[in-house]
Amino acid sequence: MLTLTKSYSFAVGLKCSCCHKEYSLNSLNTFADCCNRPLVVEYDEEYSLDKNKLATRQQNMWRYAEMLPVLNKENIVSLGEGMTPIFELNKLGAAYGFSDLLMKDETSNPTGSFKARGLSMAVSKAKEFGIEHCIIPTAGNAGGALAAYCARADIKCTVVMPTHTPKIFKQECELYGAELILVDGLINDCAKKIGELNSSHKYFDISTLKEPYRLEGKKTMGYEIAEQLDWQLPDVIIYPAGGGTGLIGIWKAFKEMLTLGWITGPLPRMYAIQSQNCSPILHALKDAVNWKNNFTPEPSIANGLAVPYPFGMNMMLDVLQESNGTAVSISEEEIVAGVKEIAKTEGHIISPEGAATWKALLHLHKNKMIRADEKVLLLNTGSGYKYLDNLDLHF
Ligand SMILES: Cc1ncc(COP(=O)(O)O)c(C=O)c1O
Ligand SMILES: [Zn+2]
Repeated sequence: MLTLTKSYSFAVGLKCSCCHKEYSLNSLNTFADCCNRPLVVEYDEEYSLDKNKLATRQQNMWRYAEMLPVLNKENIVSLGEGMTPIFELNKLGAAYGFSDLLMKDETSNPTGSFKARGLSMAVSKAKEFGIEHCIIPTAGNAGGALAAYCARADIKCTVVMPTHTPKIFKQECELYGAELILVDGLINDCAKKIGELNSSHKYFDISTLKEPYRLEGKKTMGYEIAEQLDWQLPDVIIYPAGGGTGLIGIWKAFKEMLTLGWITGPLPRMYAIQSQNCSPILHALKDAVNWKNNFTPEPSIANGLAVPYPFGMNMMLDVLQESNGTAVSISEEEIVAGVKEIAKTEGHIISPEGAATWKALLHLHKNKMIRADEKVLLLNTGSGYKYLDNLDLHF
């Protein structure tokens, strides 16, 4: 239990994402056991902050500190994450007739992916609560990010990762001093392994949405998109969804900014992109109750999209429905072709997950769900360099 002094943060509590039961911000919470759903952080809606004050602040995600849940600034564990650039993909856009095509590029984050945002936040909170050992199941990027932030914070770290993940994801964990455990299977099998290892609750489990703080780090992408586009949101955001923290987080940020008066509607349509090898969201959209039957997940070259049973499924479905978006799945061949095409036309080697968003745009346009003159923002969630081992097989 934390003893709270008055904090600069506007955070006031946690609530169950389903029934809205309140949970305390002062104790170490994981998920809402009332409904077996994720917990979300709530902020005091009475407080206000002038968005013009942001201009002179540090160029990383902690510029939004009032709307983040770390209560004492001394606990912030930062490697300079966030404030990643938004590029205009003029050449690619012109080649296909899109007049306003943008890409927010998360490559320049520490450890090369947007996972840095969530793990900077989760490790800062772990430090605030005096946690000594964190554990995480990962498709790759989150494990490396947790290992880096734990190294920085002097917290022990165990990463559980599928054996088939490209070598560099494993090497980085070891370089950062984490214990690495490999499991034959997908991220859900890694989570199962953690269940066995952690029966006595020795470790703090940082699994996606099984603690409430990673979401708060990821939501800073939403704040940045608004600020960097001068508070005029795009018409469409195309996001590669695995566990869904980014999708849910960006939407949460938009709602918070509406309350703060920083933006006005309408909000963008949100599209969640999956791999055809593992597309639980598409299955759930077809049959919300029985989607787990007849579903056989397989690995993907876009490792981060191979999340068969996301804990935040209901929250993702809510975002798609509220924003008038939907989900699309992309084949492995298209994903690899997308990586190559963006490298050759725009000079960015992006992650396969990011490349899937570009191919999804072509499908959505063909199916008349996105117009060529709309402002479209693709999210490239990470660097393609970490995947070259596996991409090699496809050249
Ligand atoms: C590069 C990349 N993109 C997207 C994802 C999916 O992220 P989320 O869990 O926020 O849906 C991951 C997750 O591992 C990833 O590493
Ligand atoms: Zn509940």
